Amino acid sequence: MPPGILYIMNKNLWIIANFKSRKNIQEVLNWIGEVGPKLIKKDNLKIAVCPSYSCLSEAKKAIQVGNFPLLLGSQNLSNFPAGAYTGEEPAEALKEFVDLSIIGHSERRQNFKETNEQIAQKIHLANQSGIEPLLCIQGEDTLIPDVVKLVAYEPVFAIGTGTPDTPENANKVALSVKQKHSANLEVLYGGSVDEKNVKSFINQENINGILVGNASLDPLSFLNIINNCLS
Ligand code: PGA
Repeated sequence: MPPGILYIMNKNLWIIANFKSRKNIQEVLNWIGEVGPKLIKKDNLKIAVCPSYSCLSEAKKAIQVGNFPLLLGSQNLSNFPAGAYTGEEPAEALKEFVDLSIIGHSERRQNFKETNEQIAQKIHLANQSGIEPLLCIQGEDTLIPDVVKLVAYEPVFAIGTGTPDTPENANKVALSVKQKHSANLEVLYGGSVDEKNVKSFINQENINGILVGNASLDPLSFLNIINNCLS
């Protein structure tokens, strides 16, 4: 049996689109309208899209109306609970819309000076609200709080550069964080994943999926990524 098929039968395969601050509501709805109807439903296949906050409500409606096997995620959430925190987006409000939330992306650590302590608070609040935290780690040494079950290894040099890590090294890092943290930890790879290289990452024994930025923006490119994972 080809390794790809065995993989899908035995464990989850996560394919997650991170739109960053790049699409407005209409663009997100167009994307869902193109991608949603082509998705196949499989128990271990977890396909998710993470648009910006302002698009989540309409995106949720479109996914529900179409009954698409598509999870919805946010790209961040507040490290404060609901309260007097002007401009913040608390997990309690987001839980109405999202299944998961990206937390600790390197763009947030760099541009917004997020600390490990804030990230740990976000993870705690996400868990309390029933939102699955997807923690981005930049290397083997990034702190992973005990409660985390899903991480994405995203080396900074590979993000948006067209220069991914090698699948072999990504696999090595994934194995090492599983050994340090827990064998049950699911580890995705992110950083310049595209339709051409995706298979080489998901074929690695310790990689449980991918987090895709640029190559997720075009619906056809994202669908090709999914198809190439499954073929
Ligand atoms: P990229 O982004 O696929 O454009 O490199 C990945 C990410 O930042 O999550």
